Amino acid sequence: MQPKKVLIVSSHPLFGKGIQKLLQARPDADAQVVGLVSSVEEAMVSLDLLNPDLVIVDYDDDAVNRDEFLARFVESEKRLRVVLLSLKEGGSEAIVYDRRTLAASQIDNWLSGWTDIEKITYKRPDEIIGKESQMGGRNNRRSNMKHAVGTVIIVAILTAAGVLLLNNNILLPASASVQAGPIDRLFGIEFKIIAFLFALIMGIMLYSILFFRRKKGEEEDGAYVKGSSRLEFTWTLLPLITVISLSMIGSVTLADTMRMDPKALEIKVVGQQWSWRFEYPEQGVISNELVLPVNKQVLLRLTSIDVIHAFWVPEFRLKQDALPGTERELRVTPNKVGSYTLMCAEMCGTKHAYMNAKVTVVSEADFDKWVSDTLSSVSDDPVIRGQTWYTQFGCNACHSIDGTKLVGPTFLGLYGKEAKLADGTTVVVDDEYIHLSIRKPADQIVAGYPNAMPPNISDALSDEQIADIIEFMKTLK
Ligand code: CUA
Repeated sequence: MQPKKVLIVSSHPLFGKGIQKLLQARPDADAQVVGLVSSVEEAMVSLDLLNPDLVIVDYDDDAVNRDEFLARFVESEKRLRVVLLSLKEGGSEAIVYDRRTLAASQIDNWLSGWTDIEKITYKRPDEIIGKESQMGGRNNRRSNMKHAVGTVIIVAILTAAGVLLLNNNILLPASASVQAGPIDRLFGIEFKIIAFLFALIMGIMLYSILFFRRKKGEEEDGAYVKGSSRLEFTWTLLPLITVISLSMIGSVTLADTMRMDPKALEIKVVGQQWSWRFEYPEQGVISNELVLPVNKQVLLRLTSIDVIHAFWVPEFRLKQDALPGTERELRVTPNKVGSYTLMCAEMCGTKHAYMNAKVTVVSEADFDKWVSDTLSSVSDDPVIRGQTWYTQFGCNACHSIDGTKLVGPTFLGLYGKEAKLADGTTVVVDDEYIHLSIRKPADQIVAGYPNAMPPNISDALSDEQIADIIEFMKTLK
């Protein structure tokens, strides 16, 4: 190994000679003086030329101007050690400085710290500053305790306020399904943790703003604080445990809400721009209102005939997408008789906000009565049936019956009329044309209108239902 290269900065020749002699007397130090310079400029040049491992600066020498030297010296990137050496008043002092552990702005702090050190000390500057901030002893400890108690109080008050908000049911609507139980429990746990975290951050910030304001005339930077392994370990481990616990509670909750009942009542839910249709295959009922028997699990099979919609009844706490071309399942067990609102929870076009449906939870007996009433109300009159299909299949969203122009042509006076098509030809709106418009809407588009027919509407309507709709259209004159 090569001996360590030492550069000495002092305008007093004796200083350099003394150091040289000292090093020679201690061969085990394995150091060799490679340069002796007497000004900052020379020192900076020598740093590049000689590439020393250690720089010894005469701290008592005003000509060297140690502040200026250090200010320039720390700007460089290379790691290097500097010893500031003072030989005043018999006793000698030395301070070892590692470049790259201090910022230029911290030098003043560090230099003033040195004058407090009595004997020869070999300390890293951050240790010295740490020592400084610990000075003051018992008084400091008491005031630290006071601040800690103050912070704990403010955090506790803020946490309590958050939990109070939750417990007073300001945040959530009433719960009306068996599945809402575990979901609300999970929400409660998470909300309390979040309330505490919010209080912790806001509380400490608030306390600092109030009690640690900069006083008049205070210009210097705050104390230099270096990392604490204990603190870092704690703030990594605690969140890790929290997140893993939450994921475990979350999966148990998910399993709870998906628990199957083989005797569940099946209902097909069809979303379309912008209405909902509910088909009860077992009962043979189609409705625009979702009627459910209380305390019985229903298996909703959700689908859409156009774009993505989402089934959401806030009181049930559950939400599931209704996708075109596929079916999604959702199990709900309503446990409270009452009226609720189903809302579409997926942006699905201009009238998304109005895509609601009435949800009624009734007793078992009332449900049976509703089924038989609905079945017997299917009219013998094709016109009335047609009018029912017109709303149940959502035709009303795009075709008015009062002449208003919506997405599609109005049904008022449409039957028997001559319609001008997009390709320039004309066609008489008769049974055949209307059938075709539903079965193959893209074939003959009326001029001035987009082809906005739901792609799967043809599968939803039978020939008989289309015939009923045509009978209904005939009456709109
Ligand atoms: Cu359907 Cu939003």
